[in-house]
Amino acid sequence: MQERKKIIIANWKMNPQTLSEAERWLIQFSHDCRTIDLKKIDLVIAPPFVYLEALKSRLPKSVGLGAQNISWLERGALTGEISGAMLKNLGCEYVIIGHSERRWQLGETDEMINLKLKTALSLHIKPILAVGEKSKGDDPRAILQKQITSAFKDLNALSAKEIIVAYEPVWAIGTGVADTPDDALSASLIIRKIMSNIYSSDWAFDLSIIYGGSVSEKNVSDFVNQEGIDGALIGSASLDASGFSRLVKQIL
Ligand code: PGA
Repeated sequence: MQERKKIIIANWKMNPQTLSEAERWLIQFSHDCRTIDLKKIDLVIAPPFVYLEALKSRLPKSVGLGAQNISWLERGALTGEISGAMLKNLGCEYVIIGHSERRWQLGETDEMINLKLKTALSLHIKPILAVGEKSKGDDPRAILQKQITSAFKDLNALSAKEIIVAYEPVWAIGTGVADTPDDALSASLIIRKIMSNIYSSDWAFDLSIIYGGSVSEKNVSDFVNQEGIDGALIGSASLDASGFSRLVKQIL
């Protein structure tokens, strides 16, 4: 059986503050990565919208470009939002949808997330759907059941398969305290079980599920080298280009 490529997604969030810093990141990353075969992984950089164009023209060809959000409306009057078509025209191939910072700080609802997934899929932009429980010690089962069933509402099995699910316990994001690889793996199994109840068990194991929350160059291989975890969503550890290249090297 052909081994699946691992997926590494860098979520820069609201960083860096200037285009020249983003350009410096690119130069450093391209330099540090020259000895590694980036084609062996699916590597995606998701910068703020304002840097998408600059990154598209300068990222190594095998690296994908992702957005951090997409409007649930295809077009129209929606101040401050960015449409899927705009992202597509800038060369975005991926989009993060339902990140906990948007759910909890900006009031993004399950209904909006479902519509955003449909919009992205209709334009062939690959969605990365973030899900996860809020507090440490919460049983993730109930919240995953709710977030996943509403996110996948009215999506057929073929479309659903296109979605990368990122299990990100909110308490682990940006805290320096990651989940344990064992618990992340059991959350991935819970997600696969929910998916097989909605669709069929035939393909639930083909679904790509990645882990996010305080992943670093020190712990990334413990998460990603498990069968059942297909990659990682990296926030803070993606901001330093050299550190991020060392992180990528850990899994190659
Ligand atoms: P973190 O962020 O790696 O800084 O914890 C992950 C995320 O929010 O996607």
